[in-house]
Amino acid sequence: MTSSPPEYRIAVIPGDGIGTEVIPPALQTLDLVAARHGFVLRYDHLDWSCTRYLVTGAMMPDDGLDRIAGHDAVLLGAVGWPGVPDHVSLWGLLIPIRRRFRQYVNLRPIRVLPGLPGPLRDAGAVDLVVVRENVEGEYSEIGGRLNRGLPDEMAVQESVFTRPGVTRIVDHAFELAATRRGDVTSATKSNGIVHTMPFWDEIVRERAARYPGVTWRQEHIDALAAKLVLRPSAYDVIVASNLFGDILSDLAAAVAGSIGIAPAGNIDPSRQFPSMFEPVHGSAPDIAGQGIANPVGALWSASMMLDHLGQPDAARDVMAGIETALADGGVRTPDLGGTATTREMTDAVLAAITAAPTGA
Ligand code: NAI
Ligand code: MG
Repeated sequence: MTSSPPEYRIAVIPGDGIGTEVIPPALQTLDLVAARHGFVLRYDHLDWSCTRYLVTGAMMPDDGLDRIAGHDAVLLGAVGWPGVPDHVSLWGLLIPIRRRFRQYVNLRPIRVLPGLPGPLRDAGAVDLVVVRENVEGEYSEIGGRLNRGLPDEMAVQESVFTRPGVTRIVDHAFELAATRRGDVTSATKSNGIVHTMPFWDEIVRERAARYPGVTWRQEHIDALAAKLVLRPSAYDVIVASNLFGDILSDLAAAVAGSIGIAPAGNIDPSRQFPSMFEPVHGSAPDIAGQGIANPVGALWSASMMLDHLGQPDAARDVMAGIETALADGGVRTPDLGGTATTREMTDAVLAAITAAPTGA
């Protein structure tokens, strides 16, 4: 008797600019490892983007989120394009997906890949994860503008921190740390921000007591940013609010060598809704259309997606392929100081995967 291979339905949103250049390499890589590990990925290609917005006035169809709510995952390139305000692409697509699908964890692993020179002397052993709160905090629509254009014009923007929201992100960080080196750093600023941040600190302290095997500390965001540059290898899991996590993860990605290699997952840990995987970088209008975008951020994101789908061996094959291709003397795109094209970098990863023994 033969049983049919597992199948996963993936909503694919290449988006704009280099998003459309790095997603095809990701799909090609996914198909290769799926074939090696005996599962099938079915893609629904969606044109949701600023290009679509310029034609139709909307980043996605009205019923867009309903159409993909039952998918197993979303793979996204990048959205944003000159001429379309960035808040349109963010609030018209990314934030609705994150909120509607309860993707309250933004997971950003940062690792210095072997053979890749980072900008820092001591970046060698960097292996950390930023766990960013993804659906509340400083990114809220609550607030407004008053007296527009007048001398006493003002703007107010409220931050929103809820007990359930902070509790679940902190728990996620501690649970993740327990599977890694067992150390959590909480980003705070309770000296300057006197309501929300002490509340955050209190909940961190409460929840930490439930994880006796995990060490933890809190650090003010300014000092933490400085230490992340001076001693990035000291960190294992960093848990942070939406804004602090956004900034820290871009900083940490740069510490690891290039924004072009950094991956991200927007996770609904309950698995009620699809989680979304995307490279950290944007649409890079400055290099779009030249065929030189680094595909590694998208490939690494695809690997995170495979892990989430329950295909860890296939996920490891993708990472091993990336590492082999980049290893000393290997292929490098211009952002890493080389001259390789997106195609050449992708082919090197595909070749490395093909040449390696199957992961499991
Ligand atoms: P960006 O990440 O697009 O580009 C920053 C710099 O890094 C540029 O010089 C670019 O050439 C370089 N770069 C980025 N990814 C690269 C890659 N894979 N290979 C080689 N070089 C790479 O950030 P920027 O310029 O601030 O934003 C451009 C547009 O992208 C904006 O419209 C912004 O809103 C959007 N954006 C979208 C994001 C998303 O979809 N999640 C995230 C960040 C920005
Ligand atoms: Mg960012």
